Amino acid sequence: MSTNINPDGLPNLQELEKLANQFFKSVKGVSQNEPAPSFPANGFSPVGSQISDIPTGNGFADGLFSHHPQSVPVSGVGASPSAINQGDVINLNNPQTSFEDPGLTATHSPVSQPSVNPFNITDLSTTSFNALPYQQEQSFEHELQQVLSQLIQVPPVPQIPVKPEAVATPPSFYFLKSFPAQLTVPGNTGASGLVKPPFDVNIVRQDFPILKEIVNSKQLVWLDNAATTQKPKQVIDRISYFYEHENSNIHRATHELAARATDAYEGARKKVQQFLNAGSVNEIIFVRGATEAINLVAKSWGEQNLNAGDEIIVSHLEHHANIVPWQQLATKKDLKIKVIPVDDDGQIIIEEYVKLLNPKTKLVAFTQVSNALGTVTPARQIVSLAHLAGAKVLVDGAQSVSHMPVDVQALDADWFVFSGHKVFGPTGIGVLYGKEDLLNQTQPWQGGGNMIVDVTFEHTRYHNAPGRFEAGTGNIADAVGLGAAIDYVTRLGMHNIAQYEHYLLVYATQLLKEVPGLRLIGTAADKASVLSFVLEGYKTEEVGAELNKHGIAVRSGHHCAQPILRRFGLESTVRPSLAFYNTCAEVDLLAHVLHSLKK
Ligand code: ALA
Repeated sequence: MSTNINPDGLPNLQELEKLANQFFKSVKGVSQNEPAPSFPANGFSPVGSQISDIPTGNGFADGLFSHHPQSVPVSGVGASPSAINQGDVINLNNPQTSFEDPGLTATHSPVSQPSVNPFNITDLSTTSFNALPYQQEQSFEHELQQVLSQLIQVPPVPQIPVKPEAVATPPSFYFLKSFPAQLTVPGNTGASGLVKPPFDVNIVRQDFPILKEIVNSKQLVWLDNAATTQKPKQVIDRISYFYEHENSNIHRATHELAARATDAYEGARKKVQQFLNAGSVNEIIFVRGATEAINLVAKSWGEQNLNAGDEIIVSHLEHHANIVPWQQLATKKDLKIKVIPVDDDGQIIIEEYVKLLNPKTKLVAFTQVSNALGTVTPARQIVSLAHLAGAKVLVDGAQSVSHMPVDVQALDADWFVFSGHKVFGPTGIGVLYGKEDLLNQTQPWQGGGNMIVDVTFEHTRYHNAPGRFEAGTGNIADAVGLGAAIDYVTRLGMHNIAQYEHYLLVYATQLLKEVPGLRLIGTAADKASVLSFVLEGYKTEEVGAELNKHGIAVRSGHHCAQPILRRFGLESTVRPSLAFYNTCAEVDLLAHVLHSLKK
């Protein structure tokens, strides 16, 4: 056995520290005059990654912080979204996730393995060799891996070919007893023919401390995800870390913490850009949430470009945030609002939409997923038709970004908005994406610091986007927290999330349909996450209160979307809404309580 390995199978950290510090000293881009960042000697903590890239060319701070050579360690996101903070709960040789995680797949087979590791390394230190925190942000990671691999040669774990029957046999969890055949995960063998374990929700749940909460003497069952989502430890830790080590105003001042805070904030903007596949970081504006983003467009672009007689089209599915700002503008400027109808399943009627378009149509604003019914709209088609008519398009992604991959370039919308708190990030932070030229042609809606190039008493020159639309001191810490949330869901994989939630939705739909007297509102062929319903003989608030007694949180009410509920003759519904950390067992409990009400 190598002398670099302790008897307990863990690496000799003194040796490791020495090599790592040698490595850091030789890393390109770290000035010889700068103190090299110290590698922690106390083991592999989640702390230790660095943010050093500030997007340049966006008019901030004269490039003052465009390269910040000293490392800024940050905490939070770990080797895999579910691996960090798990302590001894998981065995990383068998991580039980189906996510594509290069850090885990490099030396660990995704299937259960006999112990073939002579060093018996089963804790987080192993993973750290394969995927350090903020791996993709660290250009030196590859070189570091090579140095570390000289220390410990972990023999490759042999891949175990799949037995055909292993693929065919669905998991035997008790709650899957009535799992429909179509819910078994298709394609759970990779191209290599190896089994990919199912999405293990029980491991993912460990990242969400609040899911252990007891309410009304019962384990919390959070089915109010359309109202807001719960936050993983990685997001909570990242925000704490910001306030403990980085807090400062940004884009101003020459001190260390201003540099750290600016790095962290602009790093978060970059993450959002990549998450949405926007063409440039300049197209990402931090706002308070989707509501503020829509108001920004209405009160800047709308005020400046719409005139009496112009028409705005919205869909019947919209929540109030995508109705009221346009109504206010229409009243002020004598505009006309037209509404795309939906059918009895809650689906957009495209033929009727086409009839509404004409040369007076200046804007189409619609949601990608209905918060009240869960309908997924044919967004690409709606955008294309609007553009053919010469209209601009705003897509409300408040309810979509947490459930499906979004690509704003493929969607081709002129603006796209979402709220951080609905995608496992903090409240009070959200995003307006806009096409860069369009943003720069639009006058700002608020004036103040940060958004100006030069001010005299006679005249002010503004920055281009994004600074142009970020007047004053924004919500810096929560933007950073949103960046951590995006890291989190990206690690899980938005496709994995979409797939798992789809199975859960199909399962829940089947169970709710079996409850006597339950009427589902919103039965579109393409749905995401939401099950709205009414129960014969009960007011919606009575159903909500009964579920609450069992620890189940749902929203009952109008969901800030009164017009669409009235389309179905209702003022309110009960609305369980799902996220990737929900389980079939929780859906079983929901159905059980509803059945017991009917008894
Ligand atoms: N719009 C949020 C909801 O759907 C608040 O509940």
